[in-house]
Amino acid sequence: MALITWTEEQYGTTVAVADDQHKTLFGMLNKLHELAAGGNRLSVGNQLDELINFVVKHFQTEQDLMQAKGYPDLAAHKAEHDKLVGTCADLQKKFHAGQAEITQDTTAFVKGWLDSHIPTFDKPYGPALNG
Ligand code: FE2
Ligand code: FE2
Repeated sequence: MALITWTEEQYGTTVAVADDQHKTLFGMLNKLHELAAGGNRLSVGNQLDELINFVVKHFQTEQDLMQAKGYPDLAAHKAEHDKLVGTCADLQKKFHAGQAEITQDTTAFVKGWLDSHIPTFDKPYGPALNG
């Protein structure tokens, strides 16, 4: 069963590019969640790198859109992004150094972050970014 499933009600922002990227991100996280249950370390590492690269790209997309619209909450929103990227970069470094493993607790943590961040920070930018 998938770890996370996109629905309009829970995750819809009304911004098409953001919704599309969230759906892609969820797919990548679901794949990592499956691999974490018993995939080989190389596959887990590749999927982890791909996911983190995409997360960084997605955050940049959101920040560019907010910047272009002069969105007032950009700084607070970017601070949330930067915190997660810092956590991910640390974990990625440790994983590749053989000092940490990716488990389903890791993927559940990312799901929890998304479940909080998208409704609290992403959904509110909808009207401003569409305006
Ligand atoms: Fe987002
Ligand atoms: Fe965001």
